[in-house]
Order: sequence, then C-alpha cells, then structure tokens
Amino acid sequence: MSKNATINRTNGYPQVRRMRFRFGEPEPMTRHFADGDIVLSHLSALLSAAFPPGEDSFVRSVRRVSGQIDDPVLKKRAAGFIGQEAMHGQQHRVLNDELVKMGYLLVRVPHFAPGSRREKAFIRAENLIPARVHLAATAAAEHFTSVLARRVLTSPELQQIASANPEVRNLLNWHALEELEHKSVAFDVYRASGGGEAVRIGVMTIPYVGVIPFVAGAVALSILTDPRAWRPITVARQAIDVLRGPLVKGLQAEVREYLRPGFHPDDLDTEALVRHWQRELFGSDGELLDRVR
Ligand SMILES: [Fe+2]
Ligand SMILES: [Fe+2]
Repeated sequence: MSKNATINRTNGYPQVRRMRFRFGEPEPMTRHFADGDIVLSHLSALLSAAFPPGEDSFVRSVRRVSGQIDDPVLKKRAAGFIGQEAMHGQQHRVLNDELVKMGYLLVRVPHFAPGSRREKAFIRAENLIPARVHLAATAAAEHFTSVLARRVLTSPELQQIASANPEVRNLLNWHALEELEHKSVAFDVYRASGGGEAVRIGVMTIPYVGVIPFVAGAVALSILTDPRAWRPITVARQAIDVLRGPLVKGLQAEVREYLRPGFHPDDLDTEALVRHWQRELFGSDGELLDRVR
C-alpha cells in the first residue's frame, strides 16, 4: 500500500458538499442525452435511477453497526460518507425526475420518495438481511462505484460523451470524485465491526457474476420501451462499442481484485486523481463552485 493511501485512510474525512444541479434548463434535455448514443443513454439513466435507493441503503447499512465503532477517526469518516451519499441520492433524484418526464419508463421502478410505502417495504426486506451481510454488500457496491468512478474521471472518451449534456457531466464528475474520496469507508467500518474475509468475498461473488448480465438485460428492456430507440443495427453496434469501450472493458478484472484475501480499497492508489479533480471542480476557480449551495 502506498504512503498516500495510508494518509487517506487515517486522516481523510470525506467532505460533504451541498450541491444543486439544474437539469433541463434552459433547454430541455434531449432523449438520448449521452451524445445521441441510445445504449449509453439508457445505461446512464438506469444507473442514475438505481443510485438513490441504493445509496440510502448503503447509509442504513453503516448506521446499523455505528454503535460498534469506537475509533473517532472512523466515526468522522463514516459521517462524511453518510453525508456524501445522502447528497448523491438527493441530486440523482432531481435528474431522475427529468428522466421520468422524458419517458424513461424503467427509471420509475426504483424512483420512490423517502418515507413512501415502497421505501418502507424495501427497508422491511432489507432488515431481514443480517447487518454484517448488508454492510458487506455495501462495501462490495462501493468497490464497483469506485472502479467506475476512476474510469469516468480518467477517460477522455467518456468525458467527451458526457459533455454533450454539461449538467449531467457535472453531476457525474462530482459524484465520481466523492466515490473515490470515500471509497474505503464502508470497507473499514465493515472490518471495524468485526466483519471477516469469508463473508466479504462471498458477498462480492454474487455481483461479480451477476451485475453485467443483469444490467445488460435491464438496458435491453429499457430500450424496448423507447420507440425512438427501435433501431436494431444502431443499438447492436452501440452495445458492442460499450462492451469494448472505456466503461466496461476490463471491468471484471478490476472487480476481481476485491476477491483477493487481504485486499483493501486503498491498495488501488487514486490519491493523485482525487487531488486533480478536487482542484478542477472545487479549486479557487473550480468548475462547480457555482453549484455549491
Ligand atoms: Fe454515491
Ligand atoms: Fe459511495
């Protein structure tokens, strides 16, 4: 592990930035907002739809064991993690409202309000899962999000595609930066609460095997509900490009790292990347300063 990673683990508190993004202003969003790419637009829409309920669940998983954390540094890091994830969910809900208005039917499925009956049913089901397994699932999901975040922030191609809708790109870059800032928090809370390697690795095997087929199926279904996307040759070509492109190519190998006994998220050093994007977005003339409330 690098020296920087050690510093990050012990002293870095994820900073909660209260953001306000405006989508569909002044011009309404175009249906295939990812630079006209049907597959990437539906994939981005579904990921955005999944974030708010997913991230709310991550927060609850950390809260379920918070009484077992004695380390004051880890407590502060967990508070930063909770604040960042709550803000991500809130701002993705703003985007998801737009996506629902635009006709993304599948986005409606996980698009439920905090405190709604659907959320209460979701939480009841979640509470059937042992707290440690719930937290291991969060740590696994956090590895996925940090791997994707690193790809978003290092790929000129993905940045170029996202630029077709600057406000979506702003949301994406802010979210990706903070995913890297807090990438090891849930993992460290899991360990501090007594979580072991067998459950951690066992829980990851399910998304490791299942995420790509599940997401591919959901994207295909979403495209079927979009008459303007019924262009099978274009969709097939774009799907191949996505699988071979910077978002997905080699993803499984990076996820597999997590299955190694002894793995820690800070083994993958993203410190320089985080510093670069902190300056870029929130430095003295950062791109997103006017989006901070
Ligand atoms: Fe997040
Ligand atoms: Fe996260």
